[in-house]
Amino acid sequence: MKTLLLPILLLVTMCACTNKKSQMQDKNTSEITREWWKEGVVYQIYPRSFKDSDGDGIGDLKGIIEKLDYIKSLGVNMIWLNPIYASPNDDNGYDISNYRAIMKEFGTMEDFDALLKAMHNRNMKFVMDVVVNHSSDEHEWFKQSRSSRDNPYRDYYHWWPAEKGKPPYHWSFFDEKGEAWKYDSLTNSYYLHYFSQKQPDLNWENPKVRQEVYNIMKFWAEKGVDGFRLDAFQFVSKDTTFPKLPEGYEKNIIKYYGMGPNLHSYLREMNDEVLSKYDVFAVSEGAGSTLEEAHNLVDADRNELQMAYHFEGVDLVNSLEGYKLSKLKEVFTKWDKSFSKKGWISIFLSNHDVARLVSRFGNDSPEFRAVSSKMLNTFLLSMRGTPYIYYGDEIGMTNIDFDSISQYKDIAAINGYKKALSEGQDMALFMKKLNFLSRDNGRTPMQWNDSVNAGFSAGKPWLPVNKNYKTINVASQEKDSNSILNYFKKMVELRKNNKVLIYGDYELLGAENPNIYAYTRTLDDKKMLVVLNFTDHDSSIDLPESKNLEAILINNYKDLNNDENGNLTLKPYQAVICLLKN
Ligand code: GLC
Repeated sequence: MKTLLLPILLLVTMCACTNKKSQMQDKNTSEITREWWKEGVVYQIYPRSFKDSDGDGIGDLKGIIEKLDYIKSLGVNMIWLNPIYASPNDDNGYDISNYRAIMKEFGTMEDFDALLKAMHNRNMKFVMDVVVNHSSDEHEWFKQSRSSRDNPYRDYYHWWPAEKGKPPYHWSFFDEKGEAWKYDSLTNSYYLHYFSQKQPDLNWENPKVRQEVYNIMKFWAEKGVDGFRLDAFQFVSKDTTFPKLPEGYEKNIIKYYGMGPNLHSYLREMNDEVLSKYDVFAVSEGAGSTLEEAHNLVDADRNELQMAYHFEGVDLVNSLEGYKLSKLKEVFTKWDKSFSKKGWISIFLSNHDVARLVSRFGNDSPEFRAVSSKMLNTFLLSMRGTPYIYYGDEIGMTNIDFDSISQYKDIAAINGYKKALSEGQDMALFMKKLNFLSRDNGRTPMQWNDSVNAGFSAGKPWLPVNKNYKTINVASQEKDSNSILNYFKKMVELRKNNKVLIYGDYELLGAENPNIYAYTRTLDDKKMLVVLNFTDHDSSIDLPESKNLEAILINNYKDLNNDENGNLTLKPYQAVICLLKN
């Protein structure tokens, strides 16, 4: 068997593609509907943890302004910020007490205006988090609502009068007892909270509530925001008779809480009143429990939302056992196939609600952290859909190693712990799972350099900086041409310059291979082959397509080991994208 080593220098030949149509063409540019929000890459920032400009240990808007040139240097062109509104921070800003004010710790409205202007000056778009399944219990609406049964704001929330007896059990994501109804003695009634007790659910049946939300969205759209991420939105429409739900229903929560009876009419109303009037896009967190439900949210002829954000991929790792590559292939292939002609999806494997990308889906050991981070970023940036990159994943930030519950700050961790304790669960196992899966893993401060607190803050960071910041940080990776960061920039550039990676048809190859994920992307007369080794050892795959290599466009190793029979042997976590000959 003869081994060919295709040098990376072949890159220079990549532009030698012809214009002639070939047999391998399946998708044609004329069949695609181009949109700016399909062609961009979203960079998600958890503002609390990105950059602190005033030394209080909490990231802020001025800090983000300071770092815009860095973000621009990544090549990304959309920024999604987790909520920045006034909030008592029971759930770090996902509990809003004033939708038209900026959280004090993050700065002022002037800072926001300056940030938006500075982004737009750099041709970057801004995506605003809109949290309207619930508000904070400290919002004026709720204060009024709970004050008396005949207050004009009473119907802004869901109340159950106690004289009807205890409401049927409803499960809550964050409650320490797992109960979504909380008794309030002031009016002898229970109120509904799918999330924490301080996050009462808004009553979307009430047209006044909906108008309030549309006015809030218009307020921000008038300021010039470019997109909205609708938090927990699949839950807004509810069966307000609140019937008794079957035993164990919480194991299938989306089916019971998601995509309620009036969701689509609310979305069409929102589209009519807000989205259609501005050059904005909207993405809903969650996309129901079937492909059809997802399509019904985003297909263009529905006039609802623009992009579906489903959880089937990111949720593959929700236990200590990790995930199987076969399942990852199956999920991503299924979604791509379903959305190949109509609709549009987001591509992501990490965000502020999960632990770090490389620790969950890659390998965060010193030996493989860099290559596996590069491989995962190659994957995310070579699939069809809009990639969402979570801050820090471009430098391979890893999970933090907390061992005591007192170190955690996240309400989900703290209340989850209390619940597990009261249920007599195996607490050693619980702590092990928390250590691996907790949201706090993904929220530690950005690692800018090797100075104190990784250059994040001059004060005491609200959440500890990961101890590995001396080796994993932006400054050192900027200097190293072989770093995860520089590879990431190159990969973003490759996507940007090749519409085939954005719109091209996807075809899975070697579906049965347990170690390697391989696929092609094809648009007009351009075809690219993506080959990714998801293991920590050499792995081989037979790919007849690889006999047709014209150029290697990106490779996280120096060489590629392939032979004339179409067999490729990839090094641990090796990732390559090749241009194929016509
Ligand atoms: C969404 C957010 C999450 C938050 C929850 C309640 O799932 O992504 O961070 O805790 O909604 O608002």
